[in-house]
Amino acid sequence: MEIKWSDDFRTGIHILDSQTKNFITRLDKLTTAVNNGRGKIEVDHLIEFLEEYTDSHFKFEEKLMGKLKYPEGLFHAQQHQEFKSTFNKLKREFSNGSFNTDSIKYFQYEVWTFFKEHISVIDAQMARFLRGKLAD
Ligand SMILES: [Fe+2]
Repeated sequence: MEIKWSDDFRTGIHILDSQTKNFITRLDKLTTAVNNGRGKIEVDHLIEFLEEYTDSHFKFEEKLMGKLKYPEGLFHAQQHQEFKSTFNKLKREFSNGSFNTDSIKYFQYEVWTFFKEHISVIDAQMARFLRGKLAD
């Protein structure tokens, strides 16, 4: 599974794209951490970072959607909530289970699948609207 930036994720809104790129880089680092046999502490630290990062990225988008009166803003925010619940569920499963390569890979796969879908569909729709508004 390759976790890397693709132009398909580009929203054309610089700050959002750079936040997404940063998230992807950190998510990918989980693989390196596991492959290099680093400890659970480092993995926990990365997961914590991803959680905080997701939270502030989502808040940023939600603020922007509110400010520019995006009509699908409520639905979009619900999708963020769903992502956060999935993330928390995985985090709990991860910390309750024993630490191994498979559990990390599973965690990473689930987060990546959800995130890719969100960026390329939900964020792309929002970005089309925001770009139009920001150009006004
Ligand atoms: Fe979003």
